[in-house]
Amino acid sequence: KDDKPLKRKKVLITAGPTREALDPIRYVTNHSSGKMGYSLANSFKGLGAEVVLVSGPVDLTPPNGVQTIDVTSTEDMFQSVKEHMDADIGVFSAAVSDYTPVTYSEGKMKKTDDSDHLVVEMKKTTDILKYVGHNSENMTVIGFAAETDDVKNYALKKLKEKNADGIIMNDVSNPEIGMNSDDNEVAILYKDGTETYLEKASKVQLASQIVQNLADHYGWRS
Ligand code: PMT
Repeated sequence: KDDKPLKRKKVLITAGPTREALDPIRYVTNHSSGKMGYSLANSFKGLGAEVVLVSGPVDLTPPNGVQTIDVTSTEDMFQSVKEHMDADIGVFSAAVSDYTPVTYSEGKMKKTDDSDHLVVEMKKTTDILKYVGHNSENMTVIGFAAETDDVKNYALKKLKEKNADGIIMNDVSNPEIGMNSDDNEVAILYKDGTETYLEKASKVQLASQIVQNLADHYGWRS
């Protein structure tokens, strides 16, 4: 039996949230814990791959034998990802902020007396997955889609727009799965129309099923 089918593969994984700073002490972020991405990194490592994990700020211990690069903002994550465009496989599980504040205040933003409201103008960040989908040459590009409604349609839209080879969709409206929980439930939608549904399980178990499914789908062997 081939127990190290990914021995010759380099895998790039993004995980966790990004933080977009407003001033030296405040930022905009989300609830991603990094558990899904770190579990994927472990599973790929277990099948023999060389793994690079680009991680936003999380409370997890970097997996053994995995090159972990810590980043904070979307822009940092983008720069690190660009350095690993030679990966054979990319799995983009990070919950990347779609917007970042237009201006960064060098000093702490002050509470004002003239209004009870604060308006923060934000602009779009770089879509890292979309960039990789359109600019990588030999990478098998697998994105995630975190949705709260009409999950499959939005996931299929992302698969197409980001030019990915596959999208792993999850419903983040259910607090028992998705962001910051120990469990998840996903479906993998491949570009060729193949769909694999994986039942609710721990992220550790699911990661191993996802990696196995990808390996079978693409026929990866050592
Ligand atoms: O970290 P956990 O607590 O374990 O939770 C796991 C998870 C719910 C975060 C994970 O399973 C997941 O769904 N990750 C993707 C979260 C997300 O931001 O999804 P999205 O539908 O907004 O983005 C679609 C895809 O584009 C994702 O692959 C995302 O990484 C990527 N993206 C999005 C915006 C951006 N500027 N750059 C990107 O690369």
